[in-house]
Amino acid sequence: MTSLATQIGTLRLKNPIIAAAGEHLQTASGIRAALAAGAAVVIAKSTNETAAARLQLEQAEYRLLDDNWNVQPWTFRAPVPPFVLSRSGLIGREVDDWVAEIAGLDAEAATQNAYVAGSLVLADLDAGIEIGRKFQRAGVRILEFNIGTPYGDEARVVTTERSAERVATVVRAMRQAVDKTALWVKLTGQSENVAALAQAARQAGADAVVMIGRPLGMLPDLETMRPMINTNAAYGGRWALPLSCYWLAKTRQALGPHYPLIGTNGAQDGLDAARMLLAGACAVEMCTAVLAGGFGVIHDTLEQLERYLDGKQLDAAALIGRAADTVQSFAEQPAHGSWRQHVPPQTLQG
Ligand SMILES: Cc1cc2nc3c(=O)[nH]c(=O)nc-3n(C[C@H](O)[C@H](O)[C@H](O)COP(=O)(O)O)c2cc1C
Repeated sequence: MTSLATQIGTLRLKNPIIAAAGEHLQTASGIRAALAAGAAVVIAKSTNETAAARLQLEQAEYRLLDDNWNVQPWTFRAPVPPFVLSRSGLIGREVDDWVAEIAGLDAEAATQNAYVAGSLVLADLDAGIEIGRKFQRAGVRILEFNIGTPYGDEARVVTTERSAERVATVVRAMRQAVDKTALWVKLTGQSENVAALAQAARQAGADAVVMIGRPLGMLPDLETMRPMINTNAAYGGRWALPLSCYWLAKTRQALGPHYPLIGTNGAQDGLDAARMLLAGACAVEMCTAVLAGGFGVIHDTLEQLERYLDGKQLDAAALIGRAADTVQSFAEQPAHGSWRQHVPPQTLQG
């Protein structure tokens, strides 16, 4: 029997599957369902100090799409369609109230060898630091600090930090205030160099980085001839897995094998989780697959990952970074003229 255990800084997780923040994790019952399904960590729905971000949740919208861009029903059954367009907001609860509830749930999770993390989406830095302190005072053991939501250009109540200097500034300030709680920093993928953002977060004291946040997209609706869900939107789904794996591997190469990276964006089952581990993640955050496929996805993901590990006779920790560490250069590849099998026949007739 192989071991699923993994390590994020000083925290040992019983397995690498983390329920990522989303609408399904804004109630105690949703969080308990994710814990019962086996998640090692559940990231509670994010908060911040702004009333506008809360209102934005009521203005949120969601579409699952197939590979012809047809809207698919939301069935709470896996597998979920490959593409998702959405616009979200933050939890509609008062900060103090939510922090207290998360602290209680985290204490409960500790009895199951699991964690419930608080999550803060950056708007104003001073106000965010106050909320960080509240999580720490309440005894919440992990704070996820999301400084890379997709919506920074669309809504002024959240930020998308794209420069390493800004990442360093905001993470250092939060680290000074939150010195006893594990600090995980969630980064945008909307950057030409995500690894540099990770390096800045690490130097500023983050215990781990979570990567990569979803990009923005806009999909015209052929019927209405307007943008689907009326706005630009976060664009996610399984298609994004290789992009996340690319930045995990690049970041591992830049920062070395010992700094904990947490993968997010595109993992939908146990084999995808294995792919993210191979790319360099120590743990994998899953949102869309659970939100649209139901909490059972967490249990099924763990079972499938365990079967894969049993087949390979490897512990989860032994997967981390194996593919990242064997990425070769283009120049090293054999010159076997493969292009001839990848052009239409007419190209080769003349
Ligand atoms: C509807 C929805 C709501 C989300 N809400 C939050 C949130 O409150 N805080 C946060 O940090 N990330 C949030 N996310 C991002 C997810 O936690 C996750 O990082 C992202 O969707 C990529 O992973 P996935 O492919 O497993 O969905 C949300 C994502 C979706 C689809």
